[in-house]
Amino acid sequence: MNTETIKNDLFLRALRGESLERTPVWIMRQAGRYLPEYRKVRQKAGSFMNLCQSAELACEVTLQPIERFNLDAAIIFSDILTVPDAMGLGLRFVEGEGPVFDRPIHSEYDIKSLKQADVSKSLRYVFDAISTTKKALAGRVPLIGFCGSPFTLACYMIEGRGSKTFHKTKSLMYAQPKLMYLLLDKISNSLIDYLNAQIEAGADALQIFDTWGGMLSDSSFCEFSLRYTEKIISSLRPNSEGEKTPVICFTKDAPLKWYERYNALDIACIGIDWRHDMADVLATTKNICLQGNLDPMILFGSEEQIDLAVQDLINKVGNAAHIFNLGHGIHKDVEPERLAFLVESVRRHSTALRQKN
Ligand code: CP3
Repeated sequence: MNTETIKNDLFLRALRGESLERTPVWIMRQAGRYLPEYRKVRQKAGSFMNLCQSAELACEVTLQPIERFNLDAAIIFSDILTVPDAMGLGLRFVEGEGPVFDRPIHSEYDIKSLKQADVSKSLRYVFDAISTTKKALAGRVPLIGFCGSPFTLACYMIEGRGSKTFHKTKSLMYAQPKLMYLLLDKISNSLIDYLNAQIEAGADALQIFDTWGGMLSDSSFCEFSLRYTEKIISSLRPNSEGEKTPVICFTKDAPLKWYERYNALDIACIGIDWRHDMADVLATTKNICLQGNLDPMILFGSEEQIDLAVQDLINKVGNAAHIFNLGHGIHKDVEPERLAFLVESVRRHSTALRQKN
């Protein structure tokens, strides 16, 4: 399925740690509400889920930021919460509130009776969106598939929606750890099938979003998040050409030590939170590509400040393997022109750096 060659393969080469003529760039949440062309398609679709479930529309919005900014990778338009939806929780996006599950996990019975997602049926729309988008990209840039980490999905499944304290999740974790293990195992098994099917549909790389792992202590992170992410990674199958699909792991709010922990896994790249100085991360990790990590709010700054921040990051990273990104998703109120400026700045500074060397 992955038989075509990818014309702009900077992103995949960075993941392999090759030295490059410039730094590849893509942006977390690059397809979304800050783009007027996204808002138009979203309105036509009627709801966020309709948009995700139509291969044509999902493909259209996946390509929008590629067309506008000439980014070096596309990420399939979908959401991490489609998996709990497929496990029977009933996902809705409520205007002004965000995601809500109709049937959150309340009890031991809920966890014990939770079914594994039959991904080939209930998430077929994601794989169709991937194969449609791969065709439309025609090898222009690689396509990233993704999922949420088991822990982050468990947070939403237990709370039923977003939360500030995640007190229900932490209560279950500390009061009935065995039940939490069972829940995380069930989620992980669904995610293994889900990511393997994304590989089969043509995803060139995979990112695991651990949005809420950062609220855990070091030992809880190892026990309730990393262990399950590792299980997923070790269960991924080679693609149709017999190759391993590169994996990027991102934990928002991760302390430096966790990058060492990720470094020990069989992954290609670590996504870095913007709170870290890349020089510190480089000193803690080795032989692994780093992705990130400007503060997403830099895009509300002046062009001069954006340019300085980009230059500082590019110089700090030097010739180490690096994919430029923000340290978390782009904010919905960003002016698209600011992102265009940032992308151009990454190109200019990273090309200049390579020419100096
Ligand atoms: O990055 C991309 O462009 C690909 C698409 C993508 C979306 N969500 C689309 C989306 C990806 C990779 C995600 C991941 C995701 N979804 C995460 C992990 C990354 C992160 O930001 O930490 C999380 C936690 C979610 C859950 C989620 N989905 C929330 C909390 C919300 C509502 C908050 C918000 O930003 O509105 C969503 C909805 C959502 N997912 C939107 C988009 C474009 C906005 C929905 C809309 O158009 O109305």
